[in-house]
Amino acid sequence: MLSGKKILVGVTGSIAAYKSAYLVRELIKLGAEVKVVMTHSACDFISPLTLSTLSKNPVAIDFVKDEEKGIWENHVDLGLWADLFIIAPVSANSLSKLVSGNADNFLIATYLSAKCPVWIAPAMDLDMFKHFSTSDNLKTIAANGVSVIEPTSGELASGLEGKGRMEEPEVIAQLIHEFFMEDSVLKGKNVLITGGPTYEAIDPVRFIGNHSSGKTGILLADECAARGAKVTLVTGPTNFKVKDPNIEVIQIKAATEMMDVVEKIWSQMDIGIFSAAVADYRPKNQAEEKIKKSSDEMTIELVKNPDILLWAGNNKKNQYLVGFALETENETENGFKKLAKKNLDLLVLNSLKDKGAGFGGETNKVSFLSTDNKIKSFELKDKSHVAADIVDEIENNLIDNSTDKL
Ligand code: CTP
Repeated sequence: MLSGKKILVGVTGSIAAYKSAYLVRELIKLGAEVKVVMTHSACDFISPLTLSTLSKNPVAIDFVKDEEKGIWENHVDLGLWADLFIIAPVSANSLSKLVSGNADNFLIATYLSAKCPVWIAPAMDLDMFKHFSTSDNLKTIAANGVSVIEPTSGELASGLEGKGRMEEPEVIAQLIHEFFMEDSVLKGKNVLITGGPTYEAIDPVRFIGNHSSGKTGILLADECAARGAKVTLVTGPTNFKVKDPNIEVIQIKAATEMMDVVEKIWSQMDIGIFSAAVADYRPKNQAEEKIKKSSDEMTIELVKNPDILLWAGNNKKNQYLVGFALETENETENGFKKLAKKNLDLLVLNSLKDKGAGFGGETNKVSFLSTDNKIKSFELKDKSHVAADIVDEIENNLIDNSTDKL
């Protein structure tokens, strides 16, 4: 995810400008904060209204924002605001201005003020792309540290076939994502994630379970893997699938199976994120055959399941451990007690009192409780953004405590 990252999208005059709408949408989906700067000729191809709506920010085009009030658009602020400036599409004309520093429009002036990494995605007709002026400009700009996303080959707006198509927005967004994930402290770390519900068998067809969908575990696994971690996800039954094929998924049903796996692998892990909704109790006896209905009442004797997180906390060495809690009363007080009792570094608290939070659903509202008695509360968010917040917090804590953890 790109939460917390500020991406400036520059759009110049090319038929490929329509693709910038998709790029902005992809970046927003990944959680980035996006602002757009356009040249005047880009506005002939795509409306600033489209891009301001998608980016949720006003679009910068002119040096003068409001002539009557004498308000200027500040290209220096905008250039310094960005963590990454991607100009997509960049036309042959704009490329030449970027190289020569011809700041006759707001976009180029912003580029000259930017201190962040700058990327360009050229789009032009094949002969323009092949022209020595273009190839010289591309060489010069790349030699000066600007990353060039090569255009692809295919049918061009002219009707000709060849190299000059702007790379697809999804690919560009993915490259930006990978760029930001590259220097994550999670890179190469072994991360254990527990997720999903557990099913505690009563007989071969019935079980005691809960409404956990397993989505949070899956999203956490994808988020950690995207930042370069080696992830093992031990999950109860879920319909969701991990995106990253490199995540090792170990499927279990009962809490005791999850316990067995965790006991075996915990010592090899650097980080544990225990998001599973483990059933606290299981039937004392499992019937071998399907139980037939007979008497009007039936009693199932239950025994306590092992507390897997508590075990991991008690057996923690130089590892970072995150637990979850779903509380219905005295949330923070109970949360801090759990943090201490289970020897956690971080507790993710969600309250059933909050509308849209907790099991099932697409959203969650969480607070982070840490060992220094601090509480960080977040608004209601899409679960993928919550997963990104959790992994951001782990990263930040690992950076702050780099001497005593891992
Ligand atoms: N957990 C676990 N094994 C269990 C129970 C819980 O690993 N047998 C983990 C969950 O994955 C979660 C955290 O512990 O990270 C939740 O702890 P807790 O709130 O103690 O679970 P509850 O069953 O809700 O406990 P209580 O009823 O005491 O509030």
